[in-house]
Amino acid sequence: MATPLHFGFFSSFSAPAWHAPDDRMFGDDWPSGGYHSWLARRVEAAKFDFLFFEDTSGVSRINNESIDTDLRYALSAPKNDPVALITYLSAVTERLGLVATASTSLYPPFLLARLYSTIDSLSRGRAGWNIVTSSENESAQNFGQDALLPTQQRYDKAEEFVEVVSKLWGSWDADAVVKDLANNVYTDSSRVRSIDHAGEHFKVRGPLNTYPSPQHRPVFAQAGGSPRGRDFAAKHAELIMSVTIGGVEAMKEFREDIHARMRAHGRDPREARIVYALHPHITENVSTFRRSITDEQLVPVLGKHGAHLGVDLLTYDLDRPFPTDVEASGTTSMLTSLKEKGRRGITLREAIIDFHWGDDELGSIGPASSIAENLISAMDEAGGDGYIFMATQDANRAVIDGIIDELVPELQRRGAMRTDYAGSTFRENLFAF
Ligand SMILES: Cc1cc2nc3c(=O)[nH]c(=O)nc-3n(C[C@H](O)[C@H](O)[C@H](O)COP(=O)(O)O)c2cc1C
Repeated sequence: MATPLHFGFFSSFSAPAWHAPDDRMFGDDWPSGGYHSWLARRVEAAKFDFLFFEDTSGVSRINNESIDTDLRYALSAPKNDPVALITYLSAVTERLGLVATASTSLYPPFLLARLYSTIDSLSRGRAGWNIVTSSENESAQNFGQDALLPTQQRYDKAEEFVEVVSKLWGSWDADAVVKDLANNVYTDSSRVRSIDHAGEHFKVRGPLNTYPSPQHRPVFAQAGGSPRGRDFAAKHAELIMSVTIGGVEAMKEFREDIHARMRAHGRDPREARIVYALHPHITENVSTFRRSITDEQLVPVLGKHGAHLGVDLLTYDLDRPFPTDVEASGTTSMLTSLKEKGRRGITLREAIIDFHWGDDELGSIGPASSIAENLISAMDEAGGDGYIFMATQDANRAVIDGIIDELVPELQRRGAMRTDYAGSTFRENLFAF
């Protein structure tokens, strides 16, 4: 490959695969940051662009019912705060980008602007913000709201949120701190201004009160799947993540659509990097892998995705197609995809395996060398800038070692993955090629 791709590693500040049959209680020190500092160092040594943390802020009541399923299988809780975690990880890494999710439906914008500015300084320019609007009412109910706003209004609020935090990060010129001993001036007040924002959702006077950080603002990441979500990503994001459901055709359609939307917003498509999320599974035994996935393994996966969807997937028959008439308030694009697969007669079992372990079409299951070949050829065909490898609740040591010790060298040998960092900030590395 002439130009390397960009790679991220997806994680969650929650228990890794504590129930993996061959490696029980792996990463059990996760609440103290122990497991994730090990992971961050490994991911950095492998020269990934970034380590990514998803987030949600509540204990799920699937179908407004009991919190038992969530807690029993450690689906969305217990989970600690990833914003605090990346602060800690910034001290144990040097070059790795650190992305934490924070929701525009839950945070006050000033608090978020101040936090990410601080983390960007602490990490010497490696902070990234994954912008989400949230999909669970349980989170909203912990922040004084009865429920999340309907999707369109959630995105309207997100638009205003991004406007406010951008104004806040822009409220200090990069050179505002002059430290002029001769004239006894630390900060030149003519280079700092209030923002006086008064909108539909937020009222913020400004200016921000933090020291201008190396990147000035975190790298904006986003993973909108619906048309409105895609438009939001195209307008604002520098790192856009998408699922690989539907294989190369869907990836291509996504990229073309994002690029068209970027141009419509007056942006050059090169201003964003598009990466596709998948779960590479390294195994010599390709044909039996899918059949080897047990119901015990599927239960937490169904629970987790069900919580995002707002549908209790555990109540549906795994061996029948997912019904096409289900309505829900959560993640729109995944529901659409499940129903579409259902319409084509694909069982819920197959659909959820595709969704979670990666579409067979892309060839992300198999020996490391063939996964590397497949990922490269999918990217050649579909276009795009790289991948984010997902391994959370089923991330045991074997899965992580497989990705880092087997797949990464195969990618590097083929010139598809960098072997060193070019820049010092996350943004420099993300846009180095
Ligand atoms: C790689 C990736 C990471 C995501 N992380 C989160 C997250 O941490 N929290 C969250 O609420 N949603 C997360 N999502 C969901 C998206 O933000 C978005 O809601 C979803 O892609 C559906 O898009 P839509 O809301 O426009 O339909 C993630 C999606 C992807 C593909």
